[in-house]
Amino acid sequence: MRLCRRKLISTQVTSFWIQFATKYIVRIFLFSLFLIASIICIIIISTDSKDGTYTIIIDVRENRTLTTDTYLSSHPWRHASSEDEIREKLGLTRDGQLSTGVLGICPEVPYNLSGDVKALSSIHDFHTLEILHAKMHGRFEPKTCRSRQKVAIIVPYRNREHHLLVLLHNIIPFLEKQLVDFTIVVVNQALPSTFNRAMLFNIGFLEASKIYPYDCFIFHDVDLLPINDRNLYNCGPYPRHMSVAIDKFCFRPIGPTAFGGVVSFSRESYLRVNGASNLYFGWGGEDDDLYRRVNGSNMVVVTHPLSVSRYSMIKHDRDVSNGINPQRLTLLDNAVARMSKDGLNTIQYKRRTLQVTKLFLWVDVEVDEQLIWKTAPADLTLSLP
Ligand code: UDP
Ligand code: BGC
Ligand code: MN
Repeated sequence: MRLCRRKLISTQVTSFWIQFATKYIVRIFLFSLFLIASIICIIIISTDSKDGTYTIIIDVRENRTLTTDTYLSSHPWRHASSEDEIREKLGLTRDGQLSTGVLGICPEVPYNLSGDVKALSSIHDFHTLEILHAKMHGRFEPKTCRSRQKVAIIVPYRNREHHLLVLLHNIIPFLEKQLVDFTIVVVNQALPSTFNRAMLFNIGFLEASKIYPYDCFIFHDVDLLPINDRNLYNCGPYPRHMSVAIDKFCFRPIGPTAFGGVVSFSRESYLRVNGASNLYFGWGGEDDDLYRRVNGSNMVVVTHPLSVSRYSMIKHDRDVSNGINPQRLTLLDNAVARMSKDGLNTIQYKRRTLQVTKLFLWVDVEVDEQLIWKTAPADLTLSLP
């Protein structure tokens, strides 16, 4: 009887725990599972690089004074202002490298490329970037082999300091991995003239060429970050549109004749189109004009596959000094006819500063809009609004 009673008590206790378990422990377990699954989902969404789910880098306009000026004016190389001195800092002579040694030529496609890479959004100041990318001496060249081409990355620029910092932080290791011998040329258009992106391409081409006859020119928006390391920063016989798939446009091409963002030209092909037009002040059309010049010179624009030509664009607003150009469509009508009379051979600008830092070559220029219009072929610009 006692036994039986004891047994009864123990059964009651057991059923109490079973009820407790089903009521609370199972619920807690299920809730934990839900929490873990949510965390995993968030991690996957923010890191996946294959299906267009990149975290878009937001343009954080910080309330701080611009540090570009401070960086440039305090840089230990600031006194190297002649082309000869700058060439020496870059480790170049007029026709080659200071000491090439007996290195073998780099492979056409480096072996260690991995495909999709994640854009880094962390913001650094220029001094931190110099420390992080200590192999930069105004230029970078691989230590283990001799690159096939010397590449100038031309960045048309005005007042996008945050973008420039992010671009440098991303592109330097990206190009190191690709074994590119490169110099970044930032072409700054001084205020107050309306921004003229294509003219800055020409200035970058001409100023870089005074230092060294670079083989390859990559004209690069400051807010585009390459996110596939198989997108090789080199130049082939034909101009190439390198930024076909941008996250802003859901990685879809914006049209068969798109030629904005990032484009590459060999020295010969850029000379062949007489560079870009100098007449596009404000936003739009200058890239379409350049596309027509390529086609009008018996060349074609080539592209690499969508899976490779991938970029992330830093979000930004339209710049005040770069409003939509109302003349762009009229100018486009005679892009090919103007080609030989508007470009590298007619350009006028005033170079205010040419300076090299560990990270880039800085070309600061003044553009006089009135003067440029005087250089325009009158017969082909009569109908402008
Ligand atoms: N840009 C600049 N400052 C300006 C306007 C334009 O540096 O005030 C340069 C910058 O390299 C930028 C490029 O010109 O990426 C193209 O301009 P924007 O980004 O406004 O054109 P989008 O391609 O975004 O329409
Ligand atoms: C403009 C180009 C621009 C493209 C994509 C065109 O209408 O003329 O300059 O790159 O749109 O935004
Ligand atoms: Mn942009």
